[in-house]
Amino acid sequence: MEFTTDIFKQFDKKWALLTAGREDSFNTMTVSWGGMGTIWGKPVVMVYVRASRYTHEFMDDNAYFTLSFYPEQYKKELGVLGAKSGRDMDKMHASGLTAIPAGESMTFQEAEVTIVCRKLFRQRLAPENMPKDVVERFYGDQDWHDMYIGEVVDIIR
Ligand SMILES: Cc1cc2nc3c(=O)[nH]c(=O)nc-3n(C[C@H](O)[C@H](O)[C@H](O)COP(=O)(O)O)c2cc1C
Repeated sequence: MEFTTDIFKQFDKKWALLTAGREDSFNTMTVSWGGMGTIWGKPVVMVYVRASRYTHEFMDDNAYFTLSFYPEQYKKELGVLGAKSGRDMDKMHASGLTAIPAGESMTFQEAEVTIVCRKLFRQRLAPENMPKDVVERFYGDQDWHDMYIGEVVDIIR
């Protein structure tokens, strides 16, 4: 039996862009792991970013980030943004997407929906708290994920 609905497919199948920083300095990357829920009486988004990602630096240095979802036709662009690092090249320019401000952060004009988030929390997903098979499957290189929880402060359609 398959336990899924369109809500879960948003991340897993449609992917998203996680963007942090302001107009003068920002970065984006493709994500397909994440969640939406509630904590501390607030609607929140959870994302998981490996320490090696250039975007990780921007997530740490900025108080806001966005999560944006795209029509199917942009899958190729999201593939580029999820394969190249902003550390090595101007991948945002190369992707052809048009960056625009969104609240205290950035998104792209082509997004069908952008969730603007205020960073509330960050924590390393510690291997001692995971089953061994997960550690072996995903963290052979010790490139751990940090979980970020962001309060949803705006949803731009
Ligand atoms: C479909 C897809 C989903 C991805 N999901 C994640 C994710 O949830 N977390 C993560 O750390 N990296 C994820 N990645 C990998 C990053 O997007 C990729 O390493 C990217 O090049 C990082 O860019 P940056 O170094 O400019 O931040 C995903 C890649 C793809 C193609």
